[in-house]
Amino acid sequence: MAVPKVLLIVGGGVAAYKALELVRLMRKDGMEVRAILTEGGSHFVTPLSLASLTENPVGGDLFDLTAEQEMGHIVQSRWADLIVVAPATADLMAKAANGLANDLASTTLLATDTPVLMAPAMNVRMWTHPATQRNLAQLKADGVAFVGPDEGEMACGEFGEGRLAEPPVILNAIRARIGRDDSLKGRHILITAGPTEEPLDPVRFLSNRSSGKQGYAIASALERRGATVTLISGPTALPAPAGVTRVQIGTAEEMLAACKAALPAQVAIMTAAVADWRPAEAAPEKLKDKATRTTIELVANPDILAQLAKDGPDRPALVIGFAAETEKLIEHARGKLAKKGCDWIVANDVGGTGVMGGDANTVTLIDADGEEAWPRLSKAEVAERLAERIAKTLG
Ligand code: CTP
Repeated sequence: MAVPKVLLIVGGGVAAYKALELVRLMRKDGMEVRAILTEGGSHFVTPLSLASLTENPVGGDLFDLTAEQEMGHIVQSRWADLIVVAPATADLMAKAANGLANDLASTTLLATDTPVLMAPAMNVRMWTHPATQRNLAQLKADGVAFVGPDEGEMACGEFGEGRLAEPPVILNAIRARIGRDDSLKGRHILITAGPTEEPLDPVRFLSNRSSGKQGYAIASALERRGATVTLISGPTALPAPAGVTRVQIGTAEEMLAACKAALPAQVAIMTAAVADWRPAEAAPEKLKDKATRTTIELVANPDILAQLAKDGPDRPALVIGFAAETEKLIEHARGKLAKKGCDWIVANDVGGTGVMGGDANTVTLIDADGEEAWPRLSKAEVAERLAERIAKTLG
């Protein structure tokens, strides 16, 4: 799939600073970004910040003669796979709903048939005003998609609906709209992600540093190829990827039960960092014997990957495990492929490079036939490659 291209229009509002974070997330996700900053927006963020983060020149003035020699407003909108307006102010929404074209942002929105996603941000009364709601209804009728606004405290001190959706949520909405195909249509794919939490008592648990990022990125990449995705996730800070059914669980046993309940599936991908053990007993009340208690008795957790990979009528056609290793990567990963009975192992080196919780991954894909070492890639790119390989394998 080609690199997704997004044209970001940044309107004038306090939330414009969050557009910078959004650009950072999009770039990390492997998207190419160009930006247009409205006159209002330039009071909140500078063209230089946007240019540095996008690594592209920033459009602002409709009458920029250099850009307009090449009809900048037309070229920009044709270049993009998606136009994102964030923050979409009441003014920008009003202009777009009524077809006004008196600056570069509004002219671009009028001159395009590229899909548009708006993330509104404004004071709650401006948002609930009948004029804005009328414009919202008109824009929706014109095919514009929306993400947010959220409810919460606003810059002006009031509380209500009108806050810009959080950048990771906007990113999800963007991802759901670009780079789509049907290569996995009709397939049900089960993915586990994140850590598990094994309680000692109501307030303490054993867990690990898994962020869930890789599994969530894979879920999103598969959904964009038309798969029906069930994501069984331990506690993470990540929003559910758009279009994906997320089942949230705590313990390994809950994860196993949720996986079994989600079958049948054609593919199972186990990225979760499942705790190998759990405390033999989870105390019903907070433990109070810290002076005398120096050991915790543990019992083994079920191996979810091994159970799903076992032969049987419900075994998915393709079962994929992940192996996080700090040494002897290939040897250990190959051992897991055999021991767990899965079809592929994605081996990743987590030795001291900040993979756990980070955004990049260096992996080797191992199957019965051999090994394929991938270069260091973002977790989003690993997800794209894996999704492509799965689609090709299922045919
Ligand atoms: N896995 C699982 N259930 C478990 C343990 C692991 O489903 N109870 C899955 C993981 O999701 C991953 C693969 O098995 O896909 C390998 O996980 P890893 O923790 O690396 O393997 P372990 O079997 O725990 O081996 P070790 O801890 O000895 O490295």
